[in-house]
Amino acid sequence: GVKIVTIGGGSSYTPEFVEGLIKRYDELPVRELWLVDIEEGREKLEIVGKLAQRMVKRAGIPMKVCLTLNRKEALVGADFVTTQIRVGLLDARIKDERIPLKHGIIGQETNGAGGLFKGLRTIPVLLEIAEEMQELCPDAWLINFTNPAGMVTEALLRYSSHKKIVGVCNLPVHMKISIAKLLGVQLEELQIDFAGLNHLVHGLNVYVDGKNVTHHVIDLLSRPENQVTMRNIAPVPWQPDFLKALGILLCPYHRYYFKTKEILEEELEAFKKGTTRAEVVKRLEADLFELYKNPELDIKPPQLEKRGGAYYSDAACNLISSIYNDKQDIQTLNVQNQGAITGIPDESAVEVNCIVTKDGPKPIPVGELPVEVNGLVQQIKSFERIASEAAVTGSYEKALLAMTINPLVPSDEIAKKVLDEMLEAHKEYLPQF
Ligand code: G6P
Ligand code: MN
Ligand code: MN
Repeated sequence: GVKIVTIGGGSSYTPEFVEGLIKRYDELPVRELWLVDIEEGREKLEIVGKLAQRMVKRAGIPMKVCLTLNRKEALVGADFVTTQIRVGLLDARIKDERIPLKHGIIGQETNGAGGLFKGLRTIPVLLEIAEEMQELCPDAWLINFTNPAGMVTEALLRYSSHKKIVGVCNLPVHMKISIAKLLGVQLEELQIDFAGLNHLVHGLNVYVDGKNVTHHVIDLLSRPENQVTMRNIAPVPWQPDFLKALGILLCPYHRYYFKTKEILEEELEAFKKGTTRAEVVKRLEADLFELYKNPELDIKPPQLEKRGGAYYSDAACNLISSIYNDKQDIQTLNVQNQGAITGIPDESAVEVNCIVTKDGPKPIPVGELPVEVNGLVQQIKSFERIASEAAVTGSYEKALLAMTINPLVPSDEIAKKVLDEMLEAHKEYLPQF
């Protein structure tokens, strides 16, 4: 049997993961699922953990769900470790969104100044977990969903001694599901060549049963009512001629870079009303936990689908099952580039299609990215590398450089002001600075 350890087990997303494991029990017999959290998460862990136990009982499978605050005890003998933590909880995310907006720039969880600070808080904790794994379960895979997943994977690949690391995001799965619906085809008939970085991924080609339908899909996507959106990103429509000229699929997060003005206007409205995404999510989460407390509830409540991370468990469970079963199927994952995308360092993290084997995901070579998008990808990769270095070293200079070279930060003066204010606001969670 398989032992899975989920760090940040008290997360509101856990019921989705548990549902994914229950659905796949025949191919992926999980003997023990350990949900781990920290003292501040004790109450949430209790609530979510009991719901998970009720779900497993209803399903009638012999999977043991164990709850603990002792991470090291849980890690011993693990086969897979998933991480879904939020350092500083949603209050820190509110600061990541609101402080940049106060200075008139994009405030977002994984992009721009907010993304930088989420990385600075998160990377040291993930590195500590990876080092513990190297000692307590050296053969286990670390499967990280914690954002900013691209920057976190970059840092782990470069600075951790544990090397079995994969970053997961629901976005490629989400795009695939949306496009399959749009085309009226089954998911299995559809193939998309994904390549880029996390939250900056492109669909280079789209195939239905091996036939290239990219242009047709772009025609469809150029209509506002067909565009792929996510719960957490304002659905401002793309300029159709731009999409057609580009000829490849963008992801919803590209709006931050190619529709900066329109997105900023939306965000500033939300800032005034107290409805930035983090503020909305805080209320959603409170409602979810109220539901989870109900001792009659023994399934994943549909309300969870209001979160941007819907389907993330499919991505996670598919990955675990394909490694366990040596399926050699194709999944879009954050892995070490190893030459897959020309022009990005071999040791850096990229988000690309991979063949998933028992020895982990093997990236499928892409070659060079189209010139129209390669510049932005390079710039964001530079940002992620410098930000990772800042997170590990606590260097003020590196943090200032990361902030200033980010395309969503329009000047060195604003960069310094926002950096100083955010360092102060988050200092409790930034011991390295
Ligand atoms: C998308 C991203 C996730 C992110 C989520 C935010 O699904 O891929 O990485 O966590 O959105 O959703 P939320 O409901 O927290 O705003
Ligand atoms: Mn994601
Ligand atoms: Mn800039």
